[in-house]
Amino acid sequence: MDRGAWLQECRRIAEERFDTLFAPTYDRDEAPASPTHWRCVAAVIDRCPPGGRILDAACGTGRYFGMILQAGRQVVGVDQSGGMLTEARAKHPEVTVGVPPKSWRVPYAASRLRAAVS
Ligand SMILES: C[S@@+](CC[C@H](N)C(=O)[O-])C[C@H]1O[C@@H](n2cnc3c(N)ncnc32)[C@H](O)[C@@H]1O
Repeated sequence: MDRGAWLQECRRIAEERFDTLFAPTYDRDEAPASPTHWRCVAAVIDRCPPGGRILDAACGTGRYFGMILQAGRQVVGVDQSGGMLTEARAKHPEVTVGVPPKSWRVPYAASRLRAAVS
């Protein structure tokens, strides 16, 4: 198998695992984010002007969406897993989320994003 095909297969397996195994139970079963995680997200929010848009790359089920929105910033989420995004949409239908194309273009021009979390 050549390297490109191998990488594609790894990606397919990762997507499938998040779609089928993790998405339905992630919010219930996964360890909560550490205090360090939350501090990092808070620091990113502080550096983004009020009303500015933050990219959450690999947003999963949208763990950080509520904190970002409550702080008066906007958020857009991208993730490889449609299953994880279904959970994120259910909790925050007001947030734009999507699966990035293979080129990793996000739903907004970079110039319209002020910061990123992951
Ligand atoms: C451990 S979860 C973390 C989700 C979220 N950031 C959180 O803190 O709860 C990892 C997420 O990264 C996503 N992911 C992994 N590799 C990715 C890639 N190359 N492109 C987009 N999403 C990816 C997975 O689908 C999964 O939702």
